[in-house]
Amino acid sequence: MNLDKRKEFLSYCLPDITSSEINEVINTLKSGWLAKGPKTIEFEKRFAEYVGSKYAIGMNSATAALHISLLAAGVGPGDEVITTPMTFAASANTIIHTGAKPVFVDVDPETGCIDPDEITKNITPLTKAIVPVHYAGQACDLDTIYEISEKNNLFVSEDAAHGLYTEYKGRMIGDCPKGTVSYSFYATKNLATGEGGMLVTDNEEIANKARVLITHGMSRNAWNRYAKGGSWMYDIQEPGYKYNMFDLQAALGLKQLERLSEMQERREEIAEIYNEAFKCLDGIEIPKISEYTTNHSWHLYIVKINGEHVNISRDQFITELANRNVGTSVHFIPLHLMSAYRDRYGYKLGDFPIAEKWFENIVSLPLYPTMTNSDVQYVIDAVKDIVTRSALMKVI
Ligand SMILES: Cc1ncc(COP(=O)(O)O)c(C=O)c1O
Repeated sequence: MNLDKRKEFLSYCLPDITSSEINEVINTLKSGWLAKGPKTIEFEKRFAEYVGSKYAIGMNSATAALHISLLAAGVGPGDEVITTPMTFAASANTIIHTGAKPVFVDVDPETGCIDPDEITKNITPLTKAIVPVHYAGQACDLDTIYEISEKNNLFVSEDAAHGLYTEYKGRMIGDCPKGTVSYSFYATKNLATGEGGMLVTDNEEIANKARVLITHGMSRNAWNRYAKGGSWMYDIQEPGYKYNMFDLQAALGLKQLERLSEMQERREEIAEIYNEAFKCLDGIEIPKISEYTTNHSWHLYIVKINGEHVNISRDQFITELANRNVGTSVHFIPLHLMSAYRDRYGYKLGDFPIAEKWFENIVSLPLYPTMTNSDVQYVIDAVKDIVTRSALMKVI
């Protein structure tokens, strides 16, 4: 075990950009078309083929995709939308932006994904939709969720910000979706364009509405107007948003998509090394994967501190890793504890005990394709050192 402190800080997450992406961006810069145009259209086509959906609509973020999916499905003021508190603010804020109320329900204690039984218990006559989140790269229990949605006539907008490459029962998330699926290409994501997102669906009506809504409600976007053969005439069909992807993002996205399998192989390799190193380490629980998650995207590698074996809090554990120059993060602070939702809807500590228990004990360790084997080994040695010392403190 090497316990010498590394000189450079090891970030918990970094994008993997090669000369292939850089050259594609340079070519696009030189092409004279920077806004939404041929690259975006090509990326949308390739992305739809990759995940197996009929339509893919490039946007500037997953936040935009989540918002537009709900609007296109007709969610609005007075409606309720059920989601998980174990997620990023985007999943709930976009519900509020439609005028609807986010109704949080607790998570499955094994996976951290939304608990379908809790969805059923919280359906009211106002419930219009469900926003399940494929948390960390683990698949939600989609068969049960869609069964509930069909029985109660609810729309499903899957948040797959972490779920690109995740498989549910042998099929990729986004393969023939019954509702919509939103992906994030934010800088930390498995496919990174800095900022960016994609909405996929098999529903033509939703796809058409989404295309109009993301460019101010215009009947023709810039590519349709300014390219050869385009017409300057357009109508504003409804007051929409400026949410579209543009060609520099798409240039990055196209090359990242080509390299996705290779990047995923490295993520899987690192996750396996971590699992092997930590599986017998009392004090640390490795991620539990549901049997229906037939492929985990390993967007995040989340371990839990087990206080029965070690005398260290999650926060101290993070500080100890930071002292050894290892970056970490916590996914997530449950949303019902945030003032924006507490103050508006009266949520409070104790409302979702399983999510709260998760939050108390979780840490996301560094996992990304450009980590070297010695980076991975350094994290393992640091974790083992901290856990061994704090296990001794427990005995004393
Ligand atoms: C679960 C989840 N949903 C949605 C988002 C929003 O993604 P974006 O930054 O692309 O809007 C994130 C971002 O980290 C996320 O983690």
